[in-house]
Amino acid sequence: MKDSIRRRLQQRFWERFAPLYDPFMAVVARSYPRLVSRMVDRIESDADILEVAAGTGIVSLKLAPHVARVMGTDLSPKMIARANHKLKQQRRNGVAFAVADAYRLGCDDASFDATVCVNGLHLMHDPARPLSEMARVLKPGGVLLCATYLHAQSLRARFFSRVIKLGGVKVANEFTIGSMGQLIAGSGFALESQEVLSDIMPLGYIVAVKPDRQ
Ligand SMILES: C[S@@+](CC[C@H](N)C(=O)[O-])C[C@H]1O[C@@H](n2cnc3c(N)ncnc32)[C@H](O)[C@@H]1O
Repeated sequence: MKDSIRRRLQQRFWERFAPLYDPFMAVVARSYPRLVSRMVDRIESDADILEVAAGTGIVSLKLAPHVARVMGTDLSPKMIARANHKLKQQRRNGVAFAVADAYRLGCDDASFDATVCVNGLHLMHDPARPLSEMARVLKPGGVLLCATYLHAQSLRARFFSRVIKLGGVKVANEFTIGSMGQLIAGSGFALESQEVLSDIMPLGYIVAVKPDRQ
């Protein structure tokens, strides 16, 4: 199947799921508070952040009070509409949301101090390409904070992976923490740390740095 068709199908799923996403995640995503606090510990307070595959902005809105600016982007206009709705309700400064495809971010080279991608990488069929886009828009020495559910990490994970797929989620990559790390290291980043957070399915969290010279 062509990449553009895959992305259209991916987008269509999230457009339909957008109204249910926040209530679903409120029940499922138990590791997010821990994840966000680890991210806050790693990011400087004057940082300019880009979130890729930001969905309804759960992570961007939590990071916003701790950094200078956050730009949250996602392929699905309806997910971004919900993020904007929450932004209006919460009246947070320094946050903006925009529709953008992770494969073509449309941002300038070396324009962010950190890129964040949470539960997006497992949906991307050619994840090395979005990762090199994230490297491109990072300043040298900038940091990638990447987390994703690890569908192949354990038997329990494989079980929930099946359930999620039956629900219509189009999973492209079934990572273990090892394969996720290899992918990120192979996309030009230097791995700094990796960790598995417990959740309904193990959540891999990797911090990696764009080297000063590539
Ligand atoms: C599981 S949600 C995660 C949303 C958010 N990061 C979170 O953790 O709550 C996956 C998101 O990835 C987005 N997505 C999938 N493929 C994408 C792509 N190629 N570019 C940008 N976003 C994409 C979907 O639209 C969806 O909003």
